[in-house]
Formats: sequence, C-alpha cells, structure tokens
Amino acid sequence: MLHLIYRNSKEPLFIGFERDKRMIVKAIEYLKNNQIEAVLLNQRFNEKINKNIITTSGFYIINQRFSKVNEFVNQLEKKVDFLICDLGISMFHLKEDWGFSMKNNHLDMRLDEESLNLLEILNTYKEEDLANIIYQYGEERYSKYIAKEIVKKRPIQSATILKDIIINVYYKKLKKHINEKVVQRTFQAFRIYINKELEELEILLKHLKNILSRDGIAVFISFHSLEDRIIKHAFKDLKNKGFSILTKKPLTSSTR
Ligand SMILES: C[S@@+](CC[C@H](N)C(=O)[O-])C[C@H]1O[C@@H](n2cnc3c(N)ncnc32)[C@H](O)[C@@H]1O
Repeated sequence: MLHLIYRNSKEPLFIGFERDKRMIVKAIEYLKNNQIEAVLLNQRFNEKINKNIITTSGFYIINQRFSKVNEFVNQLEKKVDFLICDLGISMFHLKEDWGFSMKNNHLDMRLDEESLNLLEILNTYKEEDLANIIYQYGEERYSKYIAKEIVKKRPIQSATILKDIIINVYYKKLKKHINEKVVQRTFQAFRIYINKELEELEILLKHLKNILSRDGIAVFISFHSLEDRIIKHAFKDLKNKGFSILTKKPLTSSTR
C-alpha cells in the first residue's frame, strides 16, 4: 500500500492507495477493530473530500495503483507532506489461498484483474519469453533450462509442478537439493512481470518531485535488489535536482 499523509493541512488527511481489493477489505477491517473509521473512495475522490464528506479520522482508502498517484494529487491540488511506499506483497498474499504462494494449488499472482494470470502465462507463452521473464525479473541463472522444462511439462496446473521443475533443473545442474529461497526467485519473477511492479515503481518515482510538498518526505520500503537499484538511481537523480537524501545508506531491518 502507498500512504499519503497531509499533516500540515487544516484537516490532517491520510490516504492509502491499494490495488488489491482483498487487501482493502483487510485494511478497513483492521482499522475498524482499532476504532478508526475509514472511507473507501472512488475515482472522483477529490470531489468527496472537497465537498467535506470527511471522516472523523481523516482516513481514506482508494482502490488504485501507485502509478496513478500523480493524477490524484493534481486533482486534489494539495501536495503531499509524507509519502510511505511499502512495495511488493503482504503476508496475506502468501497465507491466503490467492495463488501467490508455492504452497497454493492454483497459480494466479495477480494483484488486480488487469493481466493474464500465471496459469495462462505458463501454458501459452513461448519458451524464449518465459526464459526472459525468469532471467530479467528473477535474476535466475538457469532461466533457459527452467523455461524449457515448463514447455516440456505442459499443461502446468499447480504451483507444486512449477516448484518441482525448478528443483529438478537445479538437481540436474548441481547434483544437490536447493532451498526454498532459490525456488522463490522464479515465482517472484512471474509476480513482478504480471503486475508490472517495476514499471509501477518507476512511474511513481518519476512523479515524486511533483507530488511532494516543500520539506515533504518520501520513504520506500523495498524487498529485493531490482527495486533497490531503481530507487537508488531515482534518488541520485533527485539529489541532482536539489532534494536531500536523509539516510547515508538504506536502513535494513537490523539497523538501529
Ligand atoms: C508489503 S505490502 C504492505 C503491507 C502492509 N504495510 C502491512 O504491514 O500489512 C504491499 C501492498 O502494496 C500493494 N501493492 C503492490 N503494488 C501496488 C501498486 N502498484 N499500487 C497499489 N498497491 C500496490 C499490495 O497489494 C500489498 O497489499
């Protein structure tokens, strides 16, 4: 979810952007359990805020992608004081039977309904395209071999089959069993590709200078090196345009 916070306005506003409807249900439920009323906004959200359909809490959630934030900030005509972008997927995506986990029986990986799901991709894409996805978004050295096996073993109908293909490719190459982290790289590659996650991040970063208020702060929470690289590159660019980078190095979960 992406959080926009307007702390300096008369009515402090907190606006969450989430593209997955299932996560919005969870967020509203969580807030309700903590006695916080949140309003779900539709596309004409600034009309509602400007017409004073305001929650007592100032909490709004909108079912939208990060890449659209710029449009909303422009509509609202208020720059953001604090932006927190928590990238990737949540523990719910892996725990629930939504087709993200390698422990699930079905293959989906979509955060919304705007693309093909993993089942369709594995069973219809050309071998070369599968290999490119696995290499580009998973940095997987055996991408070509995994793609070849996927095509050979079609129809691929469950995550277990995909997992076994990856394990077998590694076993043939290295003669040893691999851990789940290695298998995860290929699953993650498809998820990033299906949801255009890197493109989403790049668009948001491109608009950052227009979105933030003077002295506004943006924080990005990333999970893998592909995201890290894009963020570092964009921050370097922003530094050249007069922004300050507040941390010398990215903070890790063990940083005190
Ligand atoms: C790491 S999780 C957030 C976890 C949350 N902070 C928590 O503590 O439970 C990232 C969330 O961002 C959502 N998300 C991913 N890409 C998005 C995008 N481009 N636009 C909007 N939401 C996105 C995912 O659906 C997921 O719910």
